[in-house]
Amino acid sequence: MARRRMVYEGKAKILYEGPEPGTYIQYFKDDATAFNAEKKDVIDGKGVLNNRISEHIMTALGGVGVPTHFIRRLNMREQLIRQVEIIPIEIIVRNVAAGTISKRLGIEEGTPLPRPIVEFCYKDDNLGDPLVAEEHIIAFNWATQQDLDDMIALALRVNDFLSGLFYGVGIKLVDFKIECGRIYEGDFQRLVVADEISPDSCRLWDVETGQKLDKDVFRRDLGNLADAYTEVAKRLGIMPQNGTAPTTGPKLVH
Ligand code: C5P
Repeated sequence: MARRRMVYEGKAKILYEGPEPGTYIQYFKDDATAFNAEKKDVIDGKGVLNNRISEHIMTALGGVGVPTHFIRRLNMREQLIRQVEIIPIEIIVRNVAAGTISKRLGIEEGTPLPRPIVEFCYKDDNLGDPLVAEEHIIAFNWATQQDLDDMIALALRVNDFLSGLFYGVGIKLVDFKIECGRIYEGDFQRLVVADEISPDSCRLWDVETGQKLDKDVFRRDLGNLADAYTEVAKRLGIMPQNGTAPTTGPKLVH
C-alpha cells in the first residue's frame, strides 16, 4: 500500500494529500494543547468528537449558504476538504466576555457584550498568536482590505447562525474562532470558512447552569473534556443519549 503524503501537522490535526487534485484529508488527533502548547495531554476520543461536531457545523453552515472547505466526512477521524490558501489570521467573535478579553480589559467573565466584537490574531506559534489590528493586517500584507471585509462578513454570519443553532439545544455561544481560506475559481477568488469549528475553538456554556462544555474544561482543569464534548455532540443530535452512532436530529431544550 502506498504511504500518503503528509502536508502539514498542527497541534490537533494533520493534513494529508487528498485523493483528487485540489483536496486534502484532514485528520483529527486526540492531542489537546493550551496556552500555546505549554499544557498538553492526550484525550481519548477527542479527535473523533471534533471530527463529527465540525462536520455537523460545516454542513449546517453550507446549508444556509455560508461557504466552507468541507466536502465530506470519510471516517471516524478524517474528513475530505478543499485545498485552500489559509489566510494567516484567526478571526475571533465574542458575544459574552470571557478568556483573554476579560483579562485584557478587566471585564468580568459572563458579562454580555453590547454587540458582537470581532478581533484578529496573527497566526504565529512563536509569537503566541498575538492580537493585531486591521492596520497591521493591511500594512504587512497578511490579507487585503477586501479579504478583511469578507472575513468579517463571514464571521458575523457564522456567529448569527451558530448562536441560534446552539441556543436551540440549550447552549450559549460565548465566543469562537474561525480561519478563512482562499479558493481560486478561474479568474476569481473567494473566501471560505476553513480549519474546524468545534468545542476546541468555541466557548460553549450551558444556558441554564453556565456549565462549560468546551476546551476551558481542559485549560482550567474543570473535569473530563471528552464528557463535555460528548454532551455537545448529544445535544446537537450527532450521538444518541447512550451510544455513539448517529441516529436522531437535534434535541430541543425547552
Ligand atoms: O483565548 P481567547 O479568549 O482569546 O479565545 C477566544 C475564543 O477563540 C475561544 O473560543 C478560544 O477557544 C478560541 N481560540 C482558538 N484558537 C486560538 C485562540 C483562541 O480556537 N489560537
